[in-house]
Amino acid sequence: MRLPAGRNSVRKIKVRAVIPGDCPELISEGFPTENDFNKALQAQPEIEHYGLPCCGADKLGAPTANQRVRLELVPVNCYGGRVQLMSNFWEKLPKPIFVLAPLANVTDSAFRRVIAKYGKFTRPDGSKGGGPDVIWTEFVSADGLVKGNREVLSRDLVFTESERPVIAQFFTSTPEHMEEAARLALELGFDGVDINMGCPDKSIEKQKAGAMLMKNPKLAIELIAAAKRGAGHLPVSVKTRIGYNKIEIEEWLPALLSAEPVAITVHGRTRKEMSKVDAHWDMIKRAVEIRNEQGSKTLILGNGDVKTIEEAKERVVESGVDGVMIGRGIFGNPWLFNTERKIEDISIEEKLSVMLEHTKLFMELLGDIKSFALMKKHYKAYVHGFDGAKELRVQLMEAESVEEIERLVKEWLDKNRVSIATV
Ligand SMILES: Cc1cc2nc3c(=O)[nH]c(=O)nc-3n(C[C@H](O)[C@H](O)[C@H](O)COP(=O)(O)O)c2cc1C
Repeated sequence: MRLPAGRNSVRKIKVRAVIPGDCPELISEGFPTENDFNKALQAQPEIEHYGLPCCGADKLGAPTANQRVRLELVPVNCYGGRVQLMSNFWEKLPKPIFVLAPLANVTDSAFRRVIAKYGKFTRPDGSKGGGPDVIWTEFVSADGLVKGNREVLSRDLVFTESERPVIAQFFTSTPEHMEEAARLALELGFDGVDINMGCPDKSIEKQKAGAMLMKNPKLAIELIAAAKRGAGHLPVSVKTRIGYNKIEIEEWLPALLSAEPVAITVHGRTRKEMSKVDAHWDMIKRAVEIRNEQGSKTLILGNGDVKTIEEAKERVVESGVDGVMIGRGIFGNPWLFNTERKIEDISIEEKLSVMLEHTKLFMELLGDIKSFALMKKHYKAYVHGFDGAKELRVQLMEAESVEEIERLVKEWLDKNRVSIATV
């Protein structure tokens, strides 16, 4: 399988033989074989963090009889060039951290691109500001990637450089599948791997994944360890809730912390509460306290009912979280993370223009595998709050193609004497 990925993405990790003058870590003699690689793993357990199995040794020239050889792991991109491994990108983010939530069938590759573009701004000196500090993909079934239709599922894992740092989120209850999915994320050049431990959907729970993992902390811990094995140098995080039927943060969070994920996003509701009650930010605050009491380095991100960056900043002050994740607030507002612009100040013309751009991207990237109907919830969110919005919305709901959407938008703007630039 070949997928588009950035120029700096790790595509594979080669083991190459280096014949050093004064190498402190001599591992084997002779031209390295797969066995040597295994020996190297034993001698340097940290190599395991690079995750990928040996893809063959570079033929740098076989060493002569008594020359000793050091094995070096070389991450390379799709052109064979060496990739500078990014360590833990989380450490480099300025706090507080504001991130985009995974929203299945909403924050797909098309919408993520739109958010990455309009969420940022350029300062007069040319430097960039705003934008989500981290972007999550929608959740992807690790079981499906391993056993099912990898070609189709992998389309959810397509991203552009503008989205970085970007994290792939997976769900499964099988550690081996998690390991393999995490390895794929590494190969595709993601910046991190996240495990879903909060989804209340029955079809996910049937697979003992998502929120169901809160009932099985032991398996949850194994999944984190498996993800770490597969993810190599990539940081592994978890997204979860505050309990299953009742609030269980006192037991559940320490269990997760014991597996040392780099970050835990805490959605402030139990599984039972679904999204029906207000998020318990007092419990998110408690999660921060527990983390501090345990002396853990894991970052805590709070999530639930935050609609703007201003609100997010207030939540940070109240709860002490390292950052805030925003989900539904992004509907109809790809400018959400752009602190230079307020949604109230975005003209109707611009909103409709971006909506059309979003539709075209959706068709280009996903039109062959996803239903056009998925765009309809976006139209509801883009088109409201102005005179004539309802009339246009009703027409958009009935449209069945990008051409129809374009025609309706143009007609509406003509009628309302606003012009739209071609996007
Ligand atoms: C339509 C929809 C899809 C979602 N998909 C995912 C998902 O794929 N992975 C996940 O961890 N959470 C998912 N969630 C949960 C959100 O990421 C988030 O935790 C929740 O919406 C609360 O945050 P908010 O109040 O800012 O929206 C989804 C929520 C919604 C409404």
